[in-house]
Amino acid sequence: MSKKIFIKTFGCQMNEYDSNRIFDTVNKIGFEKTEILEETDCYLLNTCHIRDKAKEKVYHDIGRIKKTFKNKQKPFVIVAGCVAQAENDEMLKREPYIDLVIGPQAYHKINDKIEEFLDKQKKLEETDFDAEAKFNYLKKIQNKSSKVSSFLTIQEGCDKFCHFCVVPYTRGPEYSRPFQEIVNEAKGLADNGVKEITLLGQNVNAYKNQNFKLSDLILEIEKIQEIKRIRYTTSHPRDMSEDLINVYGVSKKLMPLVHLPVQSGSNKVLKLMNRKHVIEDYIEIYERLRSINPKIEFSSDFIIAYPGEEEEDFNATFELIKNIRFINSFSFIFSPRPGTIASNLKLIDKEISHARLEKVQKQLFEHQISMNKSLENNEIDVLVENKTNESSKFFGRSEYMTSVIFDANDQDVGNIVKVKINNSNQNTLFGECLNKSKQRVA
Ligand code: SAM
Ligand code: SF4
Ligand code: F3S
Repeated sequence: MSKKIFIKTFGCQMNEYDSNRIFDTVNKIGFEKTEILEETDCYLLNTCHIRDKAKEKVYHDIGRIKKTFKNKQKPFVIVAGCVAQAENDEMLKREPYIDLVIGPQAYHKINDKIEEFLDKQKKLEETDFDAEAKFNYLKKIQNKSSKVSSFLTIQEGCDKFCHFCVVPYTRGPEYSRPFQEIVNEAKGLADNGVKEITLLGQNVNAYKNQNFKLSDLILEIEKIQEIKRIRYTTSHPRDMSEDLINVYGVSKKLMPLVHLPVQSGSNKVLKLMNRKHVIEDYIEIYERLRSINPKIEFSSDFIIAYPGEEEEDFNATFELIKNIRFINSFSFIFSPRPGTIASNLKLIDKEISHARLEKVQKQLFEHQISMNKSLENNEIDVLVENKTNESSKFFGRSEYMTSVIFDANDQDVGNIVKVKINNSNQNTLFGECLNKSKQRVA
């Protein structure tokens, strides 16, 4: 009888990619995926350490598993991801219910570790940084993702050490996968039916392998006929190189939404954060991209109330938001992360922090709402991803990643269709498909 694994994923898209690849791997030793917690033999929690009480959330989650299995055979419990990396064997000491702690660059060892545990019943911890070994192993295991829109990790880790961020500690130094290995994986995804690929990395535009850069990868993947759209995330302003900017002038498949985290609109705060870019660089990138393609829109990440942020610094962030009119951005109050340089700095008063966040979010949401409103009564291109639970309604995304709900047919899944937008709210566009396929009669 096959064994079952339940995987719960927190955090960024890279964790989502990793969870899928972990499943492809454990599938080789007989695990099948389950969505029913009570019937699982193995519970894997893929964790994120970026903000808030990440560690406590993990123990809380394990506490719930304990309760669920109180009168049953305990599942094999694995903690993976960035909290696992940061806490390593401390987790086994604090919570004996956990059997294996495995860091994000050690997933190539997961099958051996599971078998070792099942054989010897010995608790294990594996948190070496070895991205090269990880991808060397994973390239031999087919990426089975067949979702219309799928992720493909091309780069891991970060060497930038922004003072607020745990990523260089949890994901290790920057590593770029070999060019051909990525192209082969993209071709495999296309064979599975994937139509949109999002290239991933903590610093995706720092990708460099031999002489290949991100721009080369985009142009190579674009040659795969079945792939209709290409995106990449998350990039850093310092690595927005000439060739990458120019690719927006030649690529037919690269989407016009540029997600480029700025964090703050104040040069003083950017310096305190050790961001290694100034606001003038950022605006120049924006203007150059817009002059290459006026359809380009920006989204971003903001950290509000970073230690040292004064009213005038906050105002500079607010002005930047008003000028660039970002769409779909993320904004968070600074959260001190253990082990980072900013962890010991004096925090800004809670009330002020919340008031600033509220002001920023109100402005960002206003842009989102007015962008969506401006599309009403217009026709837009939508990549159809799947059917929703509501019969005859389908889900897809615009070129700018906005969710679209519309009438279509099963045959349209995987196609780019024309949708006339009738209605909208902050997060979603609603419309009707103008060129839907004929419904096949069974
Ligand atoms: N590499 C990307 C960059 O350079 O902007 C960001 C990657 S990070 C996983 C995603 C986002 O989390 C960051 O852009 C930042 O806004 C947010 N973040 C990271 N550390 C944070 C902290 N300590 N407090 C609040 N937000 C944080
Ligand atoms: Fe974190 Fe991004 Fe800074 Fe790297 S560049 S330390 S991932 S915020
Ligand atoms: Fe979180 Fe690690 Fe991603 S800390 S955001 S899961 S790189």
